[in-house]
Amino acid sequence: TIVRISDDALARAGGADKLAAAFAAKGCEVQRTSSWGMHWLEPLVEIDGKGFGPATLADVDAILAGTSDKAIGVIEQHPFIAAQTRLTFARAGKTRPLSLEDYAASGGWSGLARARQIGSEQILAEVLESGLRGRGGAGFPTGIKWKTVAAAPGPQKYIVCNADEGDSGTFADRMAMEGDPFALIEGMAIAGDAVGARQGYIYVRSEYPDAIRKLNAALALCKDIIAPFQCEVRVGAGAYVCGEETSLLNSLEGKRGEVRAKPPLPALEGFMGRPTVVNNVLSLAAVPHILMEGGAAEYAARGHGRSKGTMPVQLAGNIKHGGLFEVPFGVTLDYLVNEIGGGTASGRPVKAVQVGGPLGAYIHPDQFDIPFDYEAYTAADALIGHAGVTVFDDTADMGAMARFAMEFCAAESCGKCTPCRIGSTRGVELIDRIRDGGRQRDVLELAPQMHNAKKTVGRSVADEVELLTDLCETMKFGSLCALGGFTPYPVMSALKHWPADFAPDLADSL
Ligand code: NAI
Ligand code: SF4
Repeated sequence: TIVRISDDALARAGGADKLAAAFAAKGCEVQRTSSWGMHWLEPLVEIDGKGFGPATLADVDAILAGTSDKAIGVIEQHPFIAAQTRLTFARAGKTRPLSLEDYAASGGWSGLARARQIGSEQILAEVLESGLRGRGGAGFPTGIKWKTVAAAPGPQKYIVCNADEGDSGTFADRMAMEGDPFALIEGMAIAGDAVGARQGYIYVRSEYPDAIRKLNAALALCKDIIAPFQCEVRVGAGAYVCGEETSLLNSLEGKRGEVRAKPPLPALEGFMGRPTVVNNVLSLAAVPHILMEGGAAEYAARGHGRSKGTMPVQLAGNIKHGGLFEVPFGVTLDYLVNEIGGGTASGRPVKAVQVGGPLGAYIHPDQFDIPFDYEAYTAADALIGHAGVTVFDDTADMGAMARFAMEFCAAESCGKCTPCRIGSTRGVELIDRIRDGGRQRDVLELAPQMHNAKKTVGRSVADEVELLTDLCETMKFGSLCALGGFTPYPVMSALKHWPADFAPDLADSL
């Protein structure tokens, strides 16, 4: 019997290795594949296309005897899988991550082979035609970024893959790197041909040891296929802000992970001051498919408005059916969270959903009909970001979540600019005061007497809210990068939709 079990980190954390050993001990041929992305069912055991999960050691005999109560039927027909359009994750669950044979048999390297036939100009035209936009969060058109690098003068150019996936509730980069590492490498090699770069770096967060190991192994296996393009893995050191591209470049150069002012854009002066493509894992992993015959047009035909193609949405937090759900843009949160995700894991009502990581807005169920689309989210003062969807039930304290956003910003701030470095700490204090019901405090009064005198003043909750709003405006428009600039989104959305979580009678005074 051939038994297929994922070797993805999530499945392994759930006991997949022991399960694989148990099936092997029963005389089965065990194949370790990538994950299908149905996280609530991991470790998922697959025999003849049928699934059993979440499987434990106690289920082994029953699974082999065909009497297991963990049977979920044919995996590809499971509603969670059947409802998806898997382009970037086409191989998820189906191939062995480090098998060159599996990769080639599933269309691998054909995008690169075609790219090498058609040459730089045509590659750029097709990536532009596909409408692919940066999947790291900002949604900048990938084709335009590549064109800028291609046109930039300079003898040496670089491709840098941003794999510092730091957003809470996100795991698509990790799954792509662990499950289909050759696709990312192929995408980088195509980018190299497009812009004239021969060297690539994958900057992976240190918290992803499995991905680091798989990428290194994959690079060793395919180095002759991608030559003359070369690629190396570089490991981060745990700073969230190193996911910001200029900070990442500093870190890659061995410097402190501090944000650089833009301009100059990395496209013109990036790694070691040379023109550099910095793209997220998902942007690069989408490229091999786009470069296949007819791939660009197929990609562009999907999606919603100017948000073309598919997005690997990551359903996480308090959700019944969490996992990776790749779908064309345009779907609603109601569909993703309630229909596909099955509501909360706790069975309680959904209170809020944070889309786009710790810097994303908290979305109220009243807004669950906004189409998943970069422009529509921006118009609603929210962001798609890296498409992490984190669900909270009605026990969540949104005042505490707003405080956490400021606290997170204070902890992760690189310290380069004042609104973020100081504003985030003042933000924590302000939220505390609001939650304390306003407070009497001592202030130093300087004018008009021009001598320092201590005076006790009282500030109402409404005064503090006004100050918090003002602080958020300053952070939003005065910060150098998205960390300080986007922290106001979770804070202000929480305040707007759940004022009573800050102070009981705040709803009346706002
Ligand atoms: P940005 O809007 O400044 O830039 C987006 C990208 O386009 C950058 O690579 C920039 O260099 C490039 N670009 C801009 N104009 C260009 C031009 N004329 N020619 C060529 N390239 C150009 O956004 P930023 O600050 O890079 O990213 C912010 C986003 O990061 C947010 O939307 C947020 O969602 C996301 N984010 C993602 C995280 C993750 O874990 N994936 C974590 C935190 C934030
Ligand atoms: Fe650094 Fe924060 Fe300013 Fe970004 S916003 S440059 S993280 S201090």
